[in-house]
Amino acid sequence: MAHAHADACLMADPLRLLADRLAPAFAAVAGVSADPVVRASDRADAQANGALALAKTLGRNPREVAEAVVATADLADLVATTEIAGPGFINVTFRDDALASLLAGVAAGPRLGARPAPAAETVVVDYSAPNVAKEMHVGHLRSTVIGDALVRMLEFVGHRVVRENHLGDWGTPFGMLIEHLLDLGETEASRELSVGDLDGFYKQASAKFRNDPAFADRARARVVLLQGGDPETLRLWRELVDESTRYFDQVYELLDVLLTDDDLAGESRYDPLLPEVLRRLEAAGLLAHSEGADVVWVPGFENREGEPLPLIVRKAGGGFNYATSDLACVMDRVERIGATLLLYVVGAPQAQHFQMVFSVAEMAGWLRPPARAVHVAFGSILGTDRKMLRSRSGAVLKLVDLLEEAIARADAAVRDKNPELPEERRRDVARAVGSRPVQYADLSPDQVRDYVFDWDRMLAFDGNTGPYLQYAHARIRSIFRRGELDPASVRGVRPVLGVPQERALGLALLGFDGAVADALDTFQPHRLSTYLFDLATRFTEFYEACPVLRADSDEQRASRLALCDLTARVLASGLGLLGIRAPDEM
Ligand code: ARG
Repeated sequence: MAHAHADACLMADPLRLLADRLAPAFAAVAGVSADPVVRASDRADAQANGALALAKTLGRNPREVAEAVVATADLADLVATTEIAGPGFINVTFRDDALASLLAGVAAGPRLGARPAPAAETVVVDYSAPNVAKEMHVGHLRSTVIGDALVRMLEFVGHRVVRENHLGDWGTPFGMLIEHLLDLGETEASRELSVGDLDGFYKQASAKFRNDPAFADRARARVVLLQGGDPETLRLWRELVDESTRYFDQVYELLDVLLTDDDLAGESRYDPLLPEVLRRLEAAGLLAHSEGADVVWVPGFENREGEPLPLIVRKAGGGFNYATSDLACVMDRVERIGATLLLYVVGAPQAQHFQMVFSVAEMAGWLRPPARAVHVAFGSILGTDRKMLRSRSGAVLKLVDLLEEAIARADAAVRDKNPELPEERRRDVARAVGSRPVQYADLSPDQVRDYVFDWDRMLAFDGNTGPYLQYAHARIRSIFRRGELDPASVRGVRPVLGVPQERALGLALLGFDGAVADALDTFQPHRLSTYLFDLATRFTEFYEACPVLRADSDEQRASRLALCDLTARVLASGLGLLGIRAPDEM
């Protein structure tokens, strides 16, 4: 047992441990290293499928290869039985005592078994990034929520994380926005902006820009003043930025995300670096000129007509753009911050922009291994009519309204479920339940697909929802309350996996390690949601089959309580990584 226990300090996932034991055996049989391809299985605890591919390369019979691997591997302390099935699949059942030891290690160890990052890196996470004086839309909500979960998970496994809220706070629209602010008068303008009427403000400004030539001239002159650093213009610009950030902060507060004003790193911050971007591209011989603009030709990109597509870095009129600013960002993040991983949590429609920016940064030598950039893309949020999510009046949905409605609905749902809960408590729970399901609804479906936002599903207490998981956690905590027991008193107990439901729950608990790793490898927090739902389901099955407070013996009772406690801790910790609070009572 010493062997399995030593591994457990590093990681808890028996599938990973099995893969690590099988890998040398595959290598010995093959003469080269080969992936054992270990997965969870319904036939046994785990299945290793690697023999099939290996046999093909070796030109041998896959079942024979599988048998040779099993004969060679050092499995005795971890594995109870192996069986070769079908075309060389290795079905594995773990030893109960090995699982129990791993569980004891998880209960006592840090991070509930989740393995630390193999190498701690500096990671910049670019997320949320709404635009000043424009409504923050549900896409920004999704970015905020996914980014927040990634930040929490990356920190959890030991990375140094730098959060950057790349606010759209610079560029030509600010000419018209400032002129509109002056037309309205500063007091009236700031009133409109502070109540979050950002969309109306922006629309009025752009309508005037289109229809009123004198206004358009003023707006253009204002852009020149802004770029020239005119103090009065900068003061007005600041006012727009500050009023908008005040509004964004209200949304962040309701969401309980980690973002603060210290994380603001808007486009304006990179403005001073833009001439340097051009200078370096020129020096590297990458800058070309096309139709009056400065561009970089990026191999492999074409427009709809199939013609080569360049990345424009200075428009024909001389202005820099979104791409220039993102190139400056890459430079800054790698060179000043020292990041080796750059994550951009931005909607899927911007995929081409990021591919081109990253390619240019690589061509220019700013992004060199180990430094790399990843666009963490996500799909749109749709209403139940499968169209863009809108408010009832058909207007653009304001996020504060959405969140406040969610909290109100959650309050009613909690009152329904537990009328005894004191008012104060209920409000707190409603907040945890209400703003968070928006989050959970966001984190549970496949990230790159569009998803349908449905109030009823979101607040349901059953199914793969945030409230279901929060409720599962609170229910476990109530077992300890009813038994007047301190959960800490069972934390040293080594569980006994007697009946199948105990064993299944134990295996599920050990999966936390792999689930966190998987969510981080793919940058898809929803994979952790799926795991937590599975864990809660295993717990329900266990709880239906196994009396806890009225177990047969003191020993059995302590063992079951230990499983309960560990489940509650994994649920709370997993939800916490998704940015969702888990109240003790609901
Ligand atoms: N403000 C942009 C938008 O609303 C998103 C910015 C994302 N981050 C970046 N570095 N480009 O679409």
